[in-house]
Amino acid sequence: MDILKEIENLKKEKNAIILAHYYQTADIQDIADFVGDSLALSQKAAETKADIILFAGVNFMAETAKILAPKSKVLIPDINAGCSLADSCPYDEFKEFISKHPDHLVISYVNTTAKIKTLTDICCTSTNALGIVNSLPKEQKIIFAPDRNLGNYINRMTGRNMVIWNGACHVHEEFSVEEIIKLKKLHPQAKVISHPECQKPVQLISDFIGSTAALLKFTTTDNSMEYIVATESGIIHQMKKENSQKLFIVAPPKDSTCGCNDCNFMKLITIKKIYDTLKSEKPEIILEEEIMIKAKKSIDKMLEISKKLNL
Ligand code: 13P
Ligand code: SF4
Repeated sequence: MDILKEIENLKKEKNAIILAHYYQTADIQDIADFVGDSLALSQKAAETKADIILFAGVNFMAETAKILAPKSKVLIPDINAGCSLADSCPYDEFKEFISKHPDHLVISYVNTTAKIKTLTDICCTSTNALGIVNSLPKEQKIIFAPDRNLGNYINRMTGRNMVIWNGACHVHEEFSVEEIIKLKKLHPQAKVISHPECQKPVQLISDFIGSTAALLKFTTTDNSMEYIVATESGIIHQMKKENSQKLFIVAPPKDSTCGCNDCNFMKLITIKKIYDTLKSEKPEIILEEEIMIKAKKSIDKMLEISKKLNL
């Protein structure tokens, strides 16, 4: 059986599309109808007319797609594709945290469960977080969740003093300044580029900090020929596709045996699972109506501000 051909047939037969995050493996990115970062994937889900969205990514992304496209059946090829960052923000604890800061607006990163989004005023992604915070009055008190590194980065960039939830991503927290500096000695011309979910010391030695999409754009518009990339390794596929003459080096994690520049949740998705899921239409993302309605408000607000800011 030619599995890629079968996937194409199933897509046509069922009016299905495949949305894939940049952290998926190269083979999956190459068969997707659309590849993007978490913001672009949300925007795509909001505008699709497909009966089925197969989401090649992690649960919180598929949940966001379901909230934005409630009439579509949203499938995820492995229901265990979670997110350590989303897990670092449990509902009850976050609710209590918010109650201690009653006059604060709640901004939550899209990397949260749908239930956390019901407690959120404005959702954000790493692409629009800075723009969203800057669009608010200087005196506005803000809770930012769940990523402490992204939150502290925004505080540094804006001079604000947002109250930050103490969460983190197990992939981005593992990059090591010492290892990057060693690599820099071998490649003195290489620019270090990092995601704002990386720890502050990694950000401070970076030539450019940006969301997954911003890092990709930087490598195509910047004139260097070599980059040390401190984010999940999947994005390097697109970087190489768009810049075949340039060299992209994966930044090493603290522990070289942990394979930490791969998100083990993202990498649970495989071509075979995509085929099986399209065929059986399982596992499906099912959310309670009330949660979807409440969570949608914060996502809609994000999309509305993003549109105004042209992001
Ligand atoms: P992006 O918003 O850059 O797509 O990042 C999502 C993510 O999971 C980062 O680890
Ligand atoms: Fe979550 Fe980190 Fe994986 Fe992104 S890379 S999906 S934040 S665990």
